[in-house]
Amino acid sequence: MSQEQLRPVRVGLLGIGTVGGGTFTVLKRNQEEIRRRAGRGIEVTMVADLNTALAQQVVGDAAQIVSDARAVIANPDVDVVVELIGGYGIAKALVLEAIAAGKHVVTANKALLAVHGTEIFAAARAKGVIVAFEAAVAGGIPIIKALREGLTANQIQWVAGIINGTTNFILSEMRDKGLDFDVVLKEAQRLGYAEADPTFDIEGVDAAHKATLLSAIAFGIPVQFDKAHVEGITQLSATDIKYAEQLGYRIKLLGIARRRDNGVELRTHPTLVPMRRLIANVEGAMNAVLVQGDAVGTTMYYGKGAGSEPTASAVVADLVDIARLLDAAPAARVPYLAFQPDEMSTLPILPLDEVITSFYLRLRVADKAGVLAKITGILAEQGISIDAVIQREADEVSGEGGNQTDLIILTHDTSEGGMNKALAAMQALPTVLAPIVRVRKEELA
Ligand code: HSE
Repeated sequence: MSQEQLRPVRVGLLGIGTVGGGTFTVLKRNQEEIRRRAGRGIEVTMVADLNTALAQQVVGDAAQIVSDARAVIANPDVDVVVELIGGYGIAKALVLEAIAAGKHVVTANKALLAVHGTEIFAAARAKGVIVAFEAAVAGGIPIIKALREGLTANQIQWVAGIINGTTNFILSEMRDKGLDFDVVLKEAQRLGYAEADPTFDIEGVDAAHKATLLSAIAFGIPVQFDKAHVEGITQLSATDIKYAEQLGYRIKLLGIARRRDNGVELRTHPTLVPMRRLIANVEGAMNAVLVQGDAVGTTMYYGKGAGSEPTASAVVADLVDIARLLDAAPAARVPYLAFQPDEMSTLPILPLDEVITSFYLRLRVADKAGVLAKITGILAEQGISIDAVIQREADEVSGEGGNQTDLIILTHDTSEGGMNKALAAMQALPTVLAPIVRVRKEELA
């Protein structure tokens, strides 16, 4: 059959908000280029949204508009269902129903896949349909494509990314303006950079969902969000951002997946990163992902991690993949999680105590003889090697006169478990006057 005779792929959109609207607009504006790439047209033929008036405004008469998503799934003339509702609730039911109805699915829903991916991919495999999710991680950055296809020759050693724009914006503002978290969050909400309920972003949950997906496709392990370490930026102070800067580091919220001999580290937390690394200079709401492969070395992917058309760019890329593969056998497709489903690894996610990393510590201490010696002694007992120590002049520590000071210690790599023991012993010293601040550090070399 010649390509001209192939009928267009018919798409049903569930949700016509920011990303759905962008998807419709990009498909329309670039339809000719997209057709030339895909080998057939891609048309939005049906849109479901509770706000049918909004849908009407966006798509006009170009597609059938309904308020009931199930009407899209039930329509035999829809080939692909694009789920842009989000969350674990109704979205999960609709995705599973679409799969059961034999539809291919495109989704931007990282929460859904990070938590229920195993069930969803198994259902899709049984039904022989595609579930594509480029838009779920780092918005417009084609990181899924890069990991699953471009880097397929490599043993991936680690992936580390700024994969939440809201928190990166907040951290950039805290550093630039020397402001504390609460102040910047309010400003970010006022400007529309942070949502009214920013919990998933600021508590690290959104980044951890994405890191979970990256760990699965990097190492061929099942998605295991329940085993991920999740820590957000709410406890960070402008003081620590400033001290880190003085030591040549920036603090970024990183999602990290690292292969060790005995398992995989899967963790999201604020991290000191050397200022000279490109990723340390990713500012504002931008995203970036570093991937270390044994053959390629370090590669970095940078771009917009959210927004209407950047995310639509990823959704449409998935639609083009589906258009090209519509008539191909399932075995000809790239596996959902990059590795063949019957070749998945059983490498466990390591408990946090076994994670290996270096640390930034800040201790408010009494400024008197022997205090530093006690602290370094405790670190030595746990086999923790010190990389650098600075002590603030007593009079620079606000409001405490001359008898207290801040000790800032950078360590070399150590286990989290060993560091926890050392922290407990240091915290118990009468000369340590406030809760010790601990931020993990990665050289990303
Ligand atoms: N809320 C996310 C962010 C975008 O701030 O990056 C969608 O994943």
